Amino acid sequence: MNTLTTLAENKVCAPRRNWKRLQVLSLLFAAAVLTGPSPAAASDAGVKLDPAPINPTDVASLQSGARTFANYCLNCHSASLMRWNRLMELGLSESQIKDNLMFASDKVGELMTVSMIRKEAKQAFGAVPPDLSVTARARGADWLYSYLRAFYRDPARPSGWNNAVFENVGMPNPLWQLQGERVRVEQTAKGGADKKDGHGPAHPSYKYELVKSGSLSPVQYDETVRDLVNFLVYVAEPAAPSRKLIGTLVLLFLLALLPLVWLLKREFWKDVH
Ligand code: HEC
Repeated sequence: MNTLTTLAENKVCAPRRNWKRLQVLSLLFAAAVLTGPSPAAASDAGVKLDPAPINPTDVASLQSGARTFANYCLNCHSASLMRWNRLMELGLSESQIKDNLMFASDKVGELMTVSMIRKEAKQAFGAVPPDLSVTARARGADWLYSYLRAFYRDPARPSGWNNAVFENVGMPNPLWQLQGERVRVEQTAKGGADKKDGHGPAHPSYKYELVKSGSLSPVQYDETVRDLVNFLVYVAEPAAPSRKLIGTLVLLFLLALLPLVWLLKREFWKDVH
């Protein structure tokens, strides 16, 4: 009998330790899932990115972004994972979508495609405009928000435009009528101010000057780009807000279940020792 209990104890205690380890692991896993991957803070060109002040639950902002996208981006880019009528989720009616956003004779059930021929695009811009369905996931909202505000005039480029975030980009500034025209001015480093960090020679630093105003003020332009980026983030994952809500509810539910399960476990194991 004695040997039997020791046997039982040995058998019991090993899974018990494993169970503890499992608990710790699942907590770590939940924390990792909740916090998610942290996006990079600098672009390839080494420019510091501005955080995009977007709000995925702001429907008015999403509608405004959809309008800017249809007006200024869709002639070159497609968003072929998105159907027009999905915009009804943003509170737009079918006729609003048809009358205000669809300039070609598409049907609302169709995908947001583009009629531009890839070969011609390559010839014109040196690169094919990529589909923007999931760009927000690949690049991140901050990158997009910074990129769309970082164009400047550069006569050395075939399009006449360059970009501080995406150097030598093939895309001309699609929003220049709104933003106006900026030029890049090299700043002369005074008294080695740039060498403060002591990491080798100073990088040339630039500032950007608005030489011709657009139809929007700089603040209004930033808001327009914010809405556009909000929309691009939505397009990349239209179900994201509901996914996050469900995720939170599930975790809360599991949390509420935890004491009950613990009590139940105590009840089950009561007689073992
Ligand atoms: C005149 C055509 C044209 C228009 C209009 C245009 N783009 Fe582009 N876009 C391009 C081309 C060409 C590229 C590829 C550039 C390259 O790789 O050098 C590009 C690249 C991009 C990229 C980079 C994608 C990546 O991950 O490399 C983003 C983001 C983008 N465009 C967003 C937009 C948005 C948003 C609009 C509307 C405001 C817009 N574009 C309007 C031609 C256009």
